[in-house]
Amino acid sequence: MSRLVVVSNRVSIPTGDAKAGGLAVALNDLMERQGGLWFGWSGHTSTGSATTTPALVQHGAVDYATVDLTPEELELYYNNFSNGTLWPLMHSLPEQMNFDRRSLQGYRAVNMRLADVLVPLLRSTDTIWVHDYHLLAMAASLRARNVTCPIGFFLHTPFPSPDMLSSVPEASQFIRDLLSADLLGFQTANDAENFAASAQRIAGAARLAGGGLQLGNRQIRVGAFPVEIDPHDFAEMAEQAHGNAETARLRRSLDGQSLILGVDRMDPTKGLRHRLAGYRRLLETRNQWSRQTTFLQIAAASRQDVDAYQTLRDDLEGSAGAINATLGEADWTPIRLISRGVGRDAIAGFMREARIGLVTPLRDGMNLVAKEYVAAQDPDDPGVLVLSKFAGAARQLGAAILVNPVDPDEIADALDLALRMSRPERQDRWKACWEAIKDASALGWGRSFVSALSRAGTEVPRPARPARTIPEPSIERRTGTGNDIRMVSTQPPSRTVN
Ligand code: ADP
Ligand code: G6P
Repeated sequence: MSRLVVVSNRVSIPTGDAKAGGLAVALNDLMERQGGLWFGWSGHTSTGSATTTPALVQHGAVDYATVDLTPEELELYYNNFSNGTLWPLMHSLPEQMNFDRRSLQGYRAVNMRLADVLVPLLRSTDTIWVHDYHLLAMAASLRARNVTCPIGFFLHTPFPSPDMLSSVPEASQFIRDLLSADLLGFQTANDAENFAASAQRIAGAARLAGGGLQLGNRQIRVGAFPVEIDPHDFAEMAEQAHGNAETARLRRSLDGQSLILGVDRMDPTKGLRHRLAGYRRLLETRNQWSRQTTFLQIAAASRQDVDAYQTLRDDLEGSAGAINATLGEADWTPIRLISRGVGRDAIAGFMREARIGLVTPLRDGMNLVAKEYVAAQDPDDPGVLVLSKFAGAARQLGAAILVNPVDPDEIADALDLALRMSRPERQDRWKACWEAIKDASALGWGRSFVSALSRAGTEVPRPARPARTIPEPSIERRTGTGNDIRMVSTQPPSRTVN
C-alpha cells in the first residue's frame, strides 16, 4: 500500500501545543487513523542559516518531520504573504489585503526550500497530499525536483473568482503551479468552479466533462471534498463534558440565562466585529433579553504578528467593554470575551450548554465549529445554529438560521427568533442538520480524497469546451510527458535562493 505523505504549513504533533484551526483538527483525526508521514513547519523559528534537515518524531503510526523557519522567512512567507496577502485574497476581502514583491519572493523561496528538505524523505511509491494556501507552489516545486509520485492539493479556504484573483500581481503563476498536481480539491463546488475558470482563462486549460481539466496531454481532476468532523465522537465528548466541573461552573454562573456562544480563532474573516454589533442591536431593540442572555465569545488569539489581527483584538476588547459599560447592569454582564484557546472538551461541553451557536464568518471555506455545534446538541432539547450564509458549511446545514454576517439587524433578528423558537421547531431544524453530517467523518473525507487521487490520470474524459490559450511568461518551463512531467526552473537553483 502506498504511504500517505501529508504536507502542510501547520503540523499538529499530538505531544505539542494544541493549536486552534480547522486544518489541524481535520488532519489530526485522519493521520492518527491512517498513518503516514506529516511534513511541514515546526511552528518555531531558529536564528542562523536555514536548516536543511528536518526534526523527526514518531507518534503512533505517524512520522512527523518538521522544519524551523528563519525569522525572515516567518515574516515574508507566513506573516506577510500567506496571511497578509493570500488569506484575505482567498476570502475575497481585498480591503484587508497587503502586497509587496519581496514577500512574494520569500513565499516562493520557502515553498522551494521545503521541497528541498522533503524530497530526500520521499519513496517512489508515496502518495503526496499538499494542503492549503501556504503551499500553492509546492506541487510545482516537487515536480521541478523530478518527483513523479501522485500529488494532490486541497485548499481549506474558499477560492476567489478569476477577477478577484487577478487583484494580486502574479497570482496567475500560482494557477499554473497548482496544475502540476494530479488532483485539486476544494471545499465546495463553487470554489472548484472558480479555480477551473481561472485555469481556463490563465493557463488555457480545457474543461472536461465531469469537472476535470486538460492541459497539453495531462488531465487534472478538480472536485469538491467538503471537510468533515467525526460527529459521533464529538457528540460523545460533548455529552460527557456537559457533566464535568468546567461546564457546571459555567452553568451556575448563567443562573438560568440563555447562553449564546461563539468559538473562533480571532481572525478578521470570522465576522467578529459585526457579530458583537448584532448582539448589541438585539439588546438595544429587544429590552426583554437584558438579564435573560449572556454572550460568551471564545476567540483564540491567532497570527498576532500580523497587523490586522492585532487591530482586531484591540477593537473587540474595546467593543465588548463598551457593550458591558453601556448595556450591562450592576448584577448583569452581557458579554464575556475570552481571547485564548480553550480545550476541546470544554468547548464541546459549552456548545451543548449553549441555546444558540453563533457562527457568522464574513466568508469561510467550511467552518468546522458549525458542524461541531450541531454534533454537540442534546437531540431532545437542542440549541439553534445561527450561521453565515457565506460559510461553506451553509451548503450542508441549510436548516440552520442563515444570516448575512455583515448586517447587525439580521443577526439581531436571528438571535431573537432563535431565543423564541419552540422546542419542536428546534428539534426539526437540528435533525435536518444532524442528518447532513452524521454519516461523514474526517477519515472518510481523507479517504475519499486519496482514493480520487489514486484514480487521477487514469480516465480520459472528453473536452467539454474548447481550450483558450493565453500565453504568459512562466517561471518554470515544463518538459516531458504525462505523469513524468519534469519542470526546469529558470530561477536560480533553490538551494542558493535562501
Ligand atoms: P478555522 O480553520 O478558520 O480556524 P474552523 O471552524 O474550520 O475555522 O476550525 C476551527 C477549529 O478550531 C475547530 O475545530 C474549533 O473547535 C477549534 N477552535 C476554534 N477556536 C477555538 C478556540 N477559541 N479555542 C479552542 N478551539 C478552537
Ligand atoms: C485555517 C487555515 C489553516 C491554519 C489554521 C490556523 O484553518 O486554513 O491552514 O492552520 O487556520 O491558522 P495558523 O496560522 O495558526 O496555522
